[in-house]
Amino acid sequence: MKKVGVAILGLGVVGGGTYKMLTEHREFYKKNHSIDIVVESVLERNTERAISLGVEKSVIAESIEDICNNSDVDIVVEVMGGIEPAKTFVLAALNAGKSVVTSNKELFCKFWHELEKVAKLNGCGLFYEATCVGGVPVIRTLLDNLQGNKITSIMGIINGTTNYILTKMTDCGVSYNEVLKEAQSLGYAEADPTADVEGYDAVYKLSILSSLSFHTKVPFTKIYREGITDIDSDDLRYGKQLGYILKLLAIGKNTDSGIEVRVHPAFIKSTHPLAGVNDSYNAVYITGDCVENIMLYGRGAGAMPTASAIVGDVIYCATHSDFNYSTFNNTENADPTTNFIADFSGAYYMRLKAQDKAGVLSKVTSVLSKHNISVAQVIQESGRADGTVPIMLVTHETYENDIWKAVNEINSDGGFATVSAVIRVCG
Ligand code: HSE
Repeated sequence: MKKVGVAILGLGVVGGGTYKMLTEHREFYKKNHSIDIVVESVLERNTERAISLGVEKSVIAESIEDICNNSDVDIVVEVMGGIEPAKTFVLAALNAGKSVVTSNKELFCKFWHELEKVAKLNGCGLFYEATCVGGVPVIRTLLDNLQGNKITSIMGIINGTTNYILTKMTDCGVSYNEVLKEAQSLGYAEADPTADVEGYDAVYKLSILSSLSFHTKVPFTKIYREGITDIDSDDLRYGKQLGYILKLLAIGKNTDSGIEVRVHPAFIKSTHPLAGVNDSYNAVYITGDCVENIMLYGRGAGAMPTASAIVGDVIYCATHSDFNYSTFNNTENADPTTNFIADFSGAYYMRLKAQDKAGVLSKVTSVLSKHNISVAQVIQESGRADGTVPIMLVTHETYENDIWKAVNEINSDGGFATVSAVIRVCG
């Protein structure tokens, strides 16, 4: 039976899950895949943590060099996160002829071109299913199952922390800060939540997913990013009344005029399949020219779901002799022939605080119509004691630049109304 040696760099949450899965399922893989996968080495500074997971002392490596020089190690699993020392370790492993499986989205997104070049040079495999959406098998779906399609759009809820926060804000009507505190105490959000709540985590994942979907390099720097920290729970309530649910969406579109890539909060129709993706669950909604729409749904994070993606890659690597690399020109920067669209088109939700006087609504709509913006839906609450009234409207499809021109004009034009919130409406 073929024996495959694995080394795991980092025994944190995901590394621990990977160790558990590989050791507990060893006989299952022998029986069903005819390979004996053995964890030959782990690199973990916290020896107590390693021992508590059942790792024998003899398996704990002193350094990355130990692993690179260990001829029993065929595949190195990098689950350390961050750029350094992960990058140095991955390059050392590839240069030592080991294939690499990684869950490190930031490293992969920023240095994919460099890692892939070294992998190719050494004839090694480089696998990254676990970089995007944890246990949801989106990378291999794009690479293998959907490869006959021209993918026109990919739209996803690809960050569990923000989806948990927005779900709680929507269901309980509580503020962002209150839910964040609760999410942190439950371990759903990090002590420093910036990467999740400001959309960076989703941007790294979208960079990888849109590059694979559209067969051109989409550097993360080309992706428009906006987080959820300014979302007011009032808007979630008004959105519900208008038939929408708010999500942090990652959107990639491939159109005749170019590629559009963005991560931002957006309302989607409550009947859209993504609207039912709640709590820390993730989903990716992909549109191909032949397959039409498909949605992949599941756990986007966590020890065992992410280990599932990693071990899938380990088995794939162990059972394939020809390694595939990206089919597009994978460089640090975008291909100069790729046009990135900045002026998005779509519908927009606006909340206005207007003077409760005759003619104010018509003043608002006349500014909008001056910028070719047509109103599709409108609701108004009863007037407030200060003589103002909240007006919420959703436009027909329009251009982002026109929306901001109209917003600036309303906000600077004599105080008949102030635009308090603008939220894109997608899907
Ligand atoms: N922090 C991420 C999330 C999981 O909340 O989805 C790993 O990417």
